[in-house]
Amino acid sequence: MKLPHFILVLIILQTLHHLPAILAVKYVAINDAKNYPGGKRFENEIGIPYTLKIMEEINNYIYKIFQQKNESDRKPVGVATVFIRQYNGAEAITYGETVNVSALYLQGYQGNLKWEYTSLLYHELTHVFQWNGEGQAPIGLVEGMADYMILVSNYYPKGFASRGMGQRWDQGYDFTARFLEYCEGLKPGFVAALNKKMRYNFSENFFVELLGKPVAQLWSEYKAKYGNIK
Ligand SMILES: *[C@@H]1O[C@H](CO)[C@@H](O)[C@H](O)[C@H]1NC(C)=O
Ligand SMILES: *[C@@H]1O[C@H](CO)[C@@H](O)[C@H](O)[C@H]1NC(C)=O
Ligand SMILES: *[C@@H]1O[C@H](CO)[C@@H](O)[C@H](O)[C@H]1NC(C)=O
Ligand SMILES: [Zn+2]
Repeated sequence: MKLPHFILVLIILQTLHHLPAILAVKYVAINDAKNYPGGKRFENEIGIPYTLKIMEEINNYIYKIFQQKNESDRKPVGVATVFIRQYNGAEAITYGETVNVSALYLQGYQGNLKWEYTSLLYHELTHVFQWNGEGQAPIGLVEGMADYMILVSNYYPKGFASRGMGQRWDQGYDFTARFLEYCEGLKPGFVAALNKKMRYNFSENFFVELLGKPVAQLWSEYKAKYGNIK
């Protein structure tokens, strides 16, 4: 069957239009707290258009830091969603591909809210795109990777740990990001390689495989280098 030209053109346009959409992540942002003070503050100081713009920017930044040029290295994510929502509790919760940000938190935050929110999304969206050893990786390390993304993006808020600070993730996970930064300094690409290894499982031996030393030794060398700051 011979199709008229204009139909062929339409089919080609459709294909071109839909092809990238199959591969690319979609971004959705919804303010479910419009009637609350935090939701109103969100509209005034941040907004949905800004959220959609930085979601894409942050996503690309995460792929860059994780060195995931190839689609096959990336975690399959269809639709990443950010909800602004009225609830009491953590400033944000990420579950699968969805990030919920607390309108109460936004309401009460003192300082540059847009900056803080951007920093928060660097952390939460990392959870959407990072590997976690199918749940086997220690939570403190997974959190440390998310904070590492804040650290390297330079969106870190006041009070973010200095070099030499932090705890090992088996002792609590404050500022594990700084330890990861130290490991990255020993071997550029370390964080990307560690994330890649965490695709299906986790072993502390990943540190030996990547840096030639057990994590306990790396930790004490890190602490020694910066004078053992708490
Ligand atoms: C991407 O990964 C696939 C599957 O592992 C591989 O066959 C392909 O060569 C890779 N492409 C590039 C550009 O590295
Ligand atoms: C996140 O917010 C959405 C929309 O308000 C809600 O349906 C969902 O249950 C929330 N998820 C979590 C984990 O709280
Ligand atoms: C983790 O999974 C990889 C890939 O399936 C496998 O080669 C490796 O032996 C596993 N490692 C551990 C510690 O289970
Ligand atoms: Zn987290």
